[in-house]
Amino acid sequence: MRKILLGPPSITNDDVQAVARVVKSGNLSLGEETVKFELEMARWLGVKYAVATSSGTTALHLAVIAGQVQAGDEVITTPFSFVASTNCFLYEKAVPKFVDIDSKTLNIDVNKIEKAITKKTKAILAVDVFGYPAEWKQIIQIAKKHNLKIIEDAAEALGAKYQGKKLGSLGHPTVFAFYPNKQMTTGEGGLLTTNDKKIYELTKGLANQGRGKDMQWLKHEYLGYNYRITEMAAALGRSQLKRLDQLLALRLQAAQWYKERLSKIPGVNLLKTDDKNHQRSWFVYVIKLDKQINRDQVIIELSNKGIPAKAYLPAIHLQPYMKTYGFKPGDFPICEAESKRTLALPFYSDIPESTIDFVCNKLAKIIK
Ligand SMILES: Cc1ncc(COP(=O)(O)O)c(C=O)c1O
Repeated sequence: MRKILLGPPSITNDDVQAVARVVKSGNLSLGEETVKFELEMARWLGVKYAVATSSGTTALHLAVIAGQVQAGDEVITTPFSFVASTNCFLYEKAVPKFVDIDSKTLNIDVNKIEKAITKKTKAILAVDVFGYPAEWKQIIQIAKKHNLKIIEDAAEALGAKYQGKKLGSLGHPTVFAFYPNKQMTTGEGGLLTTNDKKIYELTKGLANQGRGKDMQWLKHEYLGYNYRITEMAAALGRSQLKRLDQLLALRLQAAQWYKERLSKIPGVNLLKTDDKNHQRSWFVYVIKLDKQINRDQVIIELSNKGIPAKAYLPAIHLQPYMKTYGFKPGDFPICEAESKRTLALPFYSDIPESTIDFVCNKLAKIIK
């Protein structure tokens, strides 16, 4: 039987040729592919500006700097995410103010945000976890009322819609990521979107060693970084973008195949379904097991049958390095409870229905 993978990318001959063409051209950095990739992504998302970067993490760091988040400032964020959504402001020595999550959406609980605001609060960094849009209307209202910056981490949510609008087009700085397990990949890569010209020019310059608007080669206006995407990565991104709508449709189909089978297995609970305001973009296929089921044992037994599955996501505040910030078990009980019972199953754009069948049959037997 073919080896089952957790979340491989979908790569076609066109993708390979697009990258090969760039490699042969010798223009490997700061060229046309990047310029076009940014324009095409901005157009697809329905936003004015896009800055392509070396990763989602570096794009997030730029959004934090553009938000003038500084040492000692507090940033309100979710503990149920990939660590980069917190690390990006720890780099600036800002302080995490985690707010527990909503157990249904797994996103930050907007009803708890205001209680966490202090005089030191500078920004709200919310994540659209597993591709499900956070409660942006309320987040924007709270941010306005308390004069806070907003940073959106939509690394997992390319193509998701909030109130009918694609994430990334709501106006505030939003970040996407293109690691190989994402809806679309550039190998490594990220994107920052904004409707604000100043933020665009600043982040574009910061990503390119702090060069100013005119991008003169040895003139540096700010303390900058090398967060540039390569031309090879941008070319792969452009090629993938041509198929993005199709890739998203395939993922939706795969999610439906899973849903048909998993909803019949006792003990397995599915992620929240879409509603009027929220349209998920399928990034990973995560299920929640009933509390009495030993999730880690299920993962081991799936692995014994050749099925990779992952405990996903561990709570950020319980990561070993977070101890230095004083967090401890029990601080965010809903996040901790959900993170103990969630697991990701194999999921990718080209996953065959027969593989999903196989995974679900084995899972049902193991749980029984
Ligand atoms: C929520 C979230 N934020 C940020 C990132 C970071 O992206 P990258 O791995 O491209 O740096 C990821 C990547 O998985 C993510 O899931």
